[in-house]
Amino acid sequence: MVFYLNNKVFAFAVMLLLCFSCKNETEHKPVEEEKKQELIMYQPSEMASLMNGMYAYNLQIRQQIIDGETPVSMPLDLMKLHSADMSNGHARTAVWNSKIDGFIEAQQTIVDTLSNIELKQRYNAAISNCLACHKTECTGPIPKIKKLLIQ
Ligand code: HEC
Repeated sequence: MVFYLNNKVFAFAVMLLLCFSCKNETEHKPVEEEKKQELIMYQPSEMASLMNGMYAYNLQIRQQIIDGETPVSMPLDLMKLHSADMSNGHARTAVWNSKIDGFIEAQQTIVDTLSNIELKQRYNAAISNCLACHKTECTGPIPKIKKLLIQ
């Protein structure tokens, strides 16, 4: 009799466990789906990622220049600016097309160790090129980009 009861209790416990694991599964799914959707919603475009990379790089060399160092390498693949997908209704407008080559040249000139132009001036020229395009193409980050200028 004791054995029989124990068996029953055991079976009940197993059933309870199974119930919980079923429930857990159905409860987990919507949460995971929500998370996935969040990730998709906040996923930056290829262009936005590239721009954030350009921001981070310039922030880094800004400090180097202030510290009296000379940045010598520019690891960003700026040619991707010509092909990267854009988001939020941004596109390669006439303004974009008129500004992009000038920006790329200005950004590359910073690490041109043979240049006769002062380093700080070359750096600020590149940042001014960021701002020239942003003035019409994407105004949101302008305050952030302005802080990159070396006074
Ligand atoms: C020729 C035009 C142009 C130039 C030059 C340019 N940008 Fe942008 N930038 C854009 C456009 C357009 C977007 C929006 C891209 C998108 O949302 O897909 C953008 C987006 C950004 C963003 C926001 C990214 C995000 O998370 O949404 C930052 C930050 C940024 N740019 C910084 C810079 C910096 C720093 C430079 C210079 C080193 C620069 N940009 C040069 C046009 C330009």
